[in-house]
Amino acid sequence: MAIELFEMERMQSTWENVVDYDMSESGVRPLTLRELVEMGFDLDTFLDVPLGYSQSNGTIELRQRIAVHYPGSTVDHIEVTNGTSEANYMVALSQLRPGDDVAMEVPNYMQMPGVARSLGANVRMFRLRQETGWEPDWDEFERAVTPRTKLLYLSNPNNPTGAVLSDEAMRRIATRCDETGTWLLSDEVYLGAEIDRPRTPSFWGMGERVLVTSGLSKAYGIPGVRIGWLVGPPELAAAGWTQHDYITIGPNKMSDQIARVAVEPVNRERCYARTREILRHNLPIARTWVAGMGGVLTWREPLAGAIALLQYRGDVPSLDLAERVRINQGTLIVPGSHVGLEGYVRVWLGGREDFLREGLRRIGAELSQLYAGSPSASVPG
Ligand SMILES: Cc1ncc(COP(=O)(O)O)c(C=O)c1O
Repeated sequence: MAIELFEMERMQSTWENVVDYDMSESGVRPLTLRELVEMGFDLDTFLDVPLGYSQSNGTIELRQRIAVHYPGSTVDHIEVTNGTSEANYMVALSQLRPGDDVAMEVPNYMQMPGVARSLGANVRMFRLRQETGWEPDWDEFERAVTPRTKLLYLSNPNNPTGAVLSDEAMRRIATRCDETGTWLLSDEVYLGAEIDRPRTPSFWGMGERVLVTSGLSKAYGIPGVRIGWLVGPPELAAAGWTQHDYITIGPNKMSDQIARVAVEPVNRERCYARTREILRHNLPIARTWVAGMGGVLTWREPLAGAIALLQYRGDVPSLDLAERVRINQGTLIVPGSHVGLEGYVRVWLGGREDFLREGLRRIGAELSQLYAGSPSASVPG
């Protein structure tokens, strides 16, 4: 079946290397290989390693080290993938059949709807509500997750809200999935990117039918090595591996070795601490900027992740607004329509201070121009 365009990824791929200020990202500015060498990656030894295929589901060493972070799991519960996105895709490919129901929260990272529909599944959305701190709308949730639902996809911490589910909400979701026989796919790639709060608990271990995907791209700050993973019951991990054999065979050898270093507990904490430090520095800058926008923008500050989801006044379509900012200000932002929520834009908070300030200044300049002509900005420019 044909697959629809993944709008956000395509917009980013088209423009992120062309604009002056890419403010569309969602992780912190990435680590360098040198920083990974300082954490213990032995580059010199690696120079003599033959560049053959790596173990296609991830080396045993890497899976052992990942398993440490998911109590009760073994190497057989883990499938290593090319990024978290490939892990999500493996789950969908191995589990979904035409006519299946898939539930998902919105706003969200919108990979799953396109993939699920391409496999013939029906996607039922339930909303996260800003007024309740981006908790699910429970009525919509109950209607979306039923005994017919094969898979529920959520991201926690969530992209794009930066919200974290309460313990009670997590229990409610996991219990419902057990009751309805639904696979709960929790994408936890932002876990560890909490700004000023305790570590987000994983869904892992909260139910019989929990699958977790994650990777190095966001909280770790290492998207370029393209390592992610799926954690689930061994038969589910194996089913992902079966798909993997057909698609990319496996992750690359250097990335597997780099990941072994990154996921070591001490290094993981270093990466998370670096992420937290960047975000603690940048959040107040964004706060001051939002406050200075004269009521044009409102937000619920992110609790985790390098993302600010901003509601703007008026009814300009978010894609039009993002296009204006790109064309007139050479700055890329994510329109809310690309993350499932019109009337908002998503802005990156993970850059260097001067980059962040200039990016925000340009976005603000465009908004000021837009609202100067019409206080309610009802006319797209
Ligand atoms: C929730 C979520 N999952 C997965 C991804 C993609 O992750 P990766 O780069 O590890 O494939 C993103 C990227 O923005 C994301 O926001």
